[in-house]
Amino acid sequence: MKYYVLFGPPGAGKGTQAGAMVERYNLCHLSTGELLRSEIAAGTALGQQAKALIEAGNLVPDEVVEGMIEAKFNSVTGVDGFLLDGFPRTIAQAQVLDQMLSKRQESVTACISIMIPDQLIHERIAHRANIEGRADDAAPEIVENRIRTYHAKTEPLIDYYRKAGRYQEIDGTGTIEQVRSRIFGQMDKL
Ligand code: AP5
Ligand code: MG
Repeated sequence: MKYYVLFGPPGAGKGTQAGAMVERYNLCHLSTGELLRSEIAAGTALGQQAKALIEAGNLVPDEVVEGMIEAKFNSVTGVDGFLLDGFPRTIAQAQVLDQMLSKRQESVTACISIMIPDQLIHERIAHRANIEGRADDAAPEIVENRIRTYHAKTEPLIDYYRKAGRYQEIDGTGTIEQVRSRIFGQMDKL
């Protein structure tokens, strides 16, 4: 099985690129952000716990997302691997993921990192705010907090995966098609 971490700042294009990636490599797309938003929409206890944190642009507790990911690893079949979009997001989550995978005699295949400058994050999220209506896209201060959270808590994962020899950085600027072909160019070699 392949276990890809799809990494990048808010608005980098993870969700946008995921569809083509799962189709080409027969993967299951697991976006912790999307899973959490559907828990909120369904009004579950987990969703109620997560709502205020997400809508302020903060992370939910590590255990919440770790449990969601492990449940999917245990239940999804018929794929050649998983595309983890937005997970892990802290060093602690990355360590837990490594433990979950080593229990299965598996490991992270690669961290595919879509990189864009902060200025472009604002432009892309402002564009999406008009289309998708996500609560955490609605106000500039929330977006600022997401970017700050990314730099403080998530960016250290770059070094984590670099040291593990698993880090593959993709230039996320340019058109959706350009970014997609850069990603395929890297992943076809894995
Ligand atoms: P999550 O849903 O993961 O949000 P995010 O990381 O902030 O990333 P986005 O979904 O905003 O960006 P994206 O990279 O998918 O960009 P997209 O493809 O849509 O997480 C939301 C929240 O959930 C977190 O803040 C946290 O609270 C919680 N959470 C989730 N996972 C967690 C975890 N592991 N631990 C703790 N908490 C967690 O693209 C953006 C826009 O740009 C779109 O409109 C798109 O059409 C456009 N676009 C994309 N590519 C291009 C391009 N090349 N050219 C022009 N436009 C483009
Ligand atoms: Mg997304």
